[in-house]
Amino acid sequence: MSRPPLSGKTIVLGVSGSIAAYKAAELTSRLLQLGAAVQVAMTPAAARFVAPLTFQSLTHRPVITDLFAPTSDIAVDHVALAQQADAFVVAPATANTVAALAHWLAGNPGATLALSVSAPMILCPAMEHNMFDHPATQANLALLKQRGAVIVEPEEGRLASGLVGKGRLADLDVIIGTVRHVLGLSGDLAGRRIVVTAGGTREPVDPVRFITNRSSGKMGHAIAEAARDRGARVTLITTTPPPVQAAAGVDVRRVATALEMQAAVAEAVRGADALIMAAAVADYRPAAAAPQKIKKRNADGVLELQLVRNPDILASVDAPVVKVGFAAETENVLENARAKLLEKGLAIIAANDVTAPDSGFDADTNRVTIIHASGDVEALPTMPKIEVAHALLDRVKALLD
Ligand code: CTP
Repeated sequence: MSRPPLSGKTIVLGVSGSIAAYKAAELTSRLLQLGAAVQVAMTPAAARFVAPLTFQSLTHRPVITDLFAPTSDIAVDHVALAQQADAFVVAPATANTVAALAHWLAGNPGATLALSVSAPMILCPAMEHNMFDHPATQANLALLKQRGAVIVEPEEGRLASGLVGKGRLADLDVIIGTVRHVLGLSGDLAGRRIVVTAGGTREPVDPVRFITNRSSGKMGHAIAEAARDRGARVTLITTTPPPVQAAAGVDVRRVATALEMQAAVAEAVRGADALIMAAAVADYRPAAAAPQKIKKRNADGVLELQLVRNPDILASVDAPVVKVGFAAETENVLENARAKLLEKGLAIIAANDVTAPDSGFDADTNRVTIIHASGDVEALPTMPKIEVAHALLDRVKALLD
């Protein structure tokens, strides 16, 4: 089993006094589940919305609530801990806290703590939309951004006042994805650019029908997420919507057909280090999609569709990138995969038997055999797709190094 993605990381979570403070408890719990150590610091206003005991019970650490108490040994200890933090996340960040952080308002616990943390700051504003839109708040956020803070934009929606506008705390998946992205920036793939494809292409028959396959996109999304967590700049070209968390910090391009995917790949591989094609590309498409819905009465019992060959995307890429393919097979798995590796000029191919229950379509696990251009063959055990993703990236990294 690989380690949870945030293990070994210390996150200082600053909670300020918005009604969204209750969501910070869930955020804490999820960061802990991902393996992070979380030190919570609350403003006095936040402690009126949610009891510090809630966070203390989750983290098993005292919560910093008053940095200025004269006898606060705990605060001193925990400020020391804050100095070792890998990230300083402020969620929710009120207009007041944003102002205090921008201008270091003396006496504001959040601002004092921020000064002692040298780690990247991730700010998640939550406030009434008129406060968020106010030029003062926008100027403060711009100033913080200029100093390197990452701002996780609030969402549009119904606010505590009952009004609708932009000011709701961002979705926790987006916050967590951003934290993972920021923490990963110092990972072993930092400075690398990786293009990943995912999902089955859709080839239109008419305006309401298409030909596709059983690919769920899970393997490609797992690769994009793993590469993002390790610091790579990732472009994900996908036919299926990615999970929100994976999308944070990933440049996502949505496509439908093989031709669209080919164009997107050709553009994305320029200057990239690796292309990992996990997408199941339709080998054939209807010669021409009917402009109107095909009516059954016109087909006379038999409907003939003429299909034409789609280009082979992997084979068509001649940019100097490490090319990785997948071979989904139902028989003669290794022979077929080896032939594809040669035909498409790949560095690596991951072969899997899609008839097996632990590596079939839509499964959360995969059992692959990695074949290298050098001839080496590695049969990996059944693993969650995220671990298969890391195993492939380990090989890609070795080739890039
Ligand atoms: N692939 C591609 N372009 C295509 C078809 C496949 O780039 N038109 C890529 C897939 O993304 C995968 C690899 O090539 O990484 C192998 O795909 P697969 O469907 O297993 O093989 P095909 O080459 O299509 O051969 P066949 O369908 O005959 O098994």
